[in-house]
Amino acid sequence: MNILVTGAAGFIGMHLSKKLLDNGHRVIGYDNVNDYYDVQLKRDRLALLASYQDFVFYEAGLEDRQALNQVFENDDIDVIINLAAQAGVRYSLENPHVYAESNVVGFVNILEAARHYQVKNLIYASSSSVYGANVKMPFSTDDEVNHPVSLYAATKKSNELMAHTYSHLYNIPTTGLRFFTVYGPMGRPDMAYFSFTKKILAGEAIKIFNNGEMMRDFTYVDDIVDGIVKLIDQPPKANPDFDREHPKPSASYAPYRLYNIGNNQPVKLMNFIETLEKHLGMTAKKEFLPMQPGDVKATYADIEPLQKATSFKPTTTIDQGLKQFVDWYMEYYHNT
Ligand SMILES: NC(=O)c1ccc[n+]([C@@H]2O[C@H](COP(=O)([O-])OP(=O)(O)OC[C@H]3O[C@@H](n4cnc5c(N)ncnc54)[C@H](O)[C@@H]3O)[C@@H](O)[C@H]2O)c1
Repeated sequence: MNILVTGAAGFIGMHLSKKLLDNGHRVIGYDNVNDYYDVQLKRDRLALLASYQDFVFYEAGLEDRQALNQVFENDDIDVIINLAAQAGVRYSLENPHVYAESNVVGFVNILEAARHYQVKNLIYASSSSVYGANVKMPFSTDDEVNHPVSLYAATKKSNELMAHTYSHLYNIPTTGLRFFTVYGPMGRPDMAYFSFTKKILAGEAIKIFNNGEMMRDFTYVDDIVDGIVKLIDQPPKANPDFDREHPKPSASYAPYRLYNIGNNQPVKLMNFIETLEKHLGMTAKKEFLPMQPGDVKATYADIEPLQKATSFKPTTTIDQGLKQFVDWYMEYYHNT
């Protein structure tokens, strides 16, 4: 298949593209390679993909409608996997406009392209952050998510709403995936596990918010990729029996689905840090701080619906996953 992966220079996008290429697909990568974090890391991810003959890359923004449409003019795209977005909860308090441009305007352009070029399946990244102020655990895609606590979360929720309108109006199969704290080799430097590693190795104190009283459903990147791959040839179907009197938020009469994709095993932040210390062979200096605005205390994914639909089963423990991350980090930054 010809698969458009937006955000291909990004963390999840690179791992996904690599897997798709290994599986024999042709991957059309699209990314603006912005400098939200280390551009060299993005270039190195792209260099890895460039070694495959079946990888094509466009360096442009989702908000550039002409550039995006050109991709569809040049190639017959079967499936879109939209991972490009301005990520990060905290940064959305500093630079809200970039979230509107990349995540809202950009996503409308993706939907319009899916409509005009008759794409067979659209899979897009949502986020566990849409659960916002919800406290019922584990988070279920059948819970309402009407209380976001960051603009980032609100843009992701808006993607889910906009996708539904296109599934309804134009019969485009759309699947939204709410990712839960993804980590792994070649990961994102703005995420805590990455900056903790850097600081621990430099002998600097790490900042631990809410005095460490946090839980995250950390999910290893290979498990996430496995889940996405399983959905590629399973576009949702229209369901005439959908109960409109008691409508489940995760599904529809239209070809529309939402899934959580997480590890289903939340870990206390302090245990996560202990495991990281073990693999680094060092103890972190710790600075305990209050809760940050926009953050949530815990995340925990109910993944039963995805398991039922695809036999998805995350298999990587925190211990195994952090070892993979630390091994990569040491080699990449020549710390060995
Ligand atoms: N990593 C996580 O824990 C996590 C959790 C929940 C949701 N997500 C979502 O998953 C997706 C992938 O996340 P990631 O961790 O790989 O992030 P990432 O930042 O590494 O990847 C996103 C990529 O998109 C590109 N990009 C950003 N804005 C763009 C635009 N307007 N046009 C074109 N390209 C653009 C960036 O250059 C980057 O390479 C994102 O949509 C993110 O919001 C990630």
